[in-house]
Amino acid sequence: MGKGEGKGGARAPSPWYRRGWGRAPSPGYNRGRGRRRPAGGGSEPAPGPSERGRAGRSRAGAGAMAGPGFVRTLEKRDGSALRLEQRGAGGVGCVVWDAALVLAKFLESRAAALRRRAVLELGAGPGAVGIMAATLGADVTVTDLEELQDLLNVNIEKNKHLVTGSVQAKVLKWGEDVKEFLPAPDYILMADCIYYEESLAPLLKTLKDLSGPDTCIICCYEQRTMGKNPEIERKYLELLQVDFELEKVPLEKHDEEYRSEDIHILNIRRKKMAGYFFLLAYWGLSRIHKTVVYLA
Ligand SMILES: C[S@@+](CC[C@H](N)C(=O)[O-])C[C@H]1O[C@@H](n2cnc3c(N)ncnc32)[C@H](O)[C@@H]1O
Repeated sequence: MGKGEGKGGARAPSPWYRRGWGRAPSPGYNRGRGRRRPAGGGSEPAPGPSERGRAGRSRAGAGAMAGPGFVRTLEKRDGSALRLEQRGAGGVGCVVWDAALVLAKFLESRAAALRRRAVLELGAGPGAVGIMAATLGADVTVTDLEELQDLLNVNIEKNKHLVTGSVQAKVLKWGEDVKEFLPAPDYILMADCIYYEESLAPLLKTLKDLSGPDTCIICCYEQRTMGKNPEIERKYLELLQVDFELEKVPLEKHDEEYRSEDIHILNIRRKKMAGYFFLLAYWGLSRIHKTVVYLA
């Protein structure tokens, strides 16, 4: 099946990640149910297509080996393409994950909303999402741990000719001080950042510390069914809803091609406190009124 076939109502059931470009089917991939299995133990994400690409065949230009790493190409609607270097060794942040592809392509359909907006990406890995936002005119800070900074800078450099906003890489470890990143950005983007239990509390703290009343957090994650993953996902969503309101973006609003039933996009905003303040003020005033009437 060629890329782009089946559009216009007669889309092929086979989604983008099964088309065999830049990736190979892996034994860990349950094709029949459209689910990827975790790499083991459940503490790390399942190997995404990009990792499968590393292990397997490549489409011309899509998964070519480049020195110690290999390059992932992500085509844009305008015909240009992001080139994202990945590393053959290192942690989970060294490769582009499916959720990042889905979110990056989703952003393309929201390009007007991103222009000249302050955007911060958490757990950026190779930077697919943030760099895409910068090519759509946003002023972006892509963040991750210290060990990902080289890869982020390589990818910023590789794609700088496409950037129409701005993009810089910085270290941001979840749970730590975020003063340097304030005032609150217009958008916080995250792809595939919910995957290990110990990170939930620090990640939520960072979201709270970084977001203002108008910040829109867009979180894309892959629903995983093995090991502790369902529990981690449930806990994350539960904890998130203490301070934030979530709205799921329906699948039909995802990119027409880069979508999958097990990859979700959430729009997240801080809960509005105005309603509580209003109730509190009303309650206080009615008490004062009653006291005045009583004394009179
Ligand atoms: C599964 S990777 C996703 C990478 C990228 N967003 C993508 O989807 O291609 C998770 C990322 O979160 C980062 N990460 C994990 N724990 C972190 C922490 N405590 N603080 C900051 N980043 C962290 C990792 O370094 C990694 O880049």
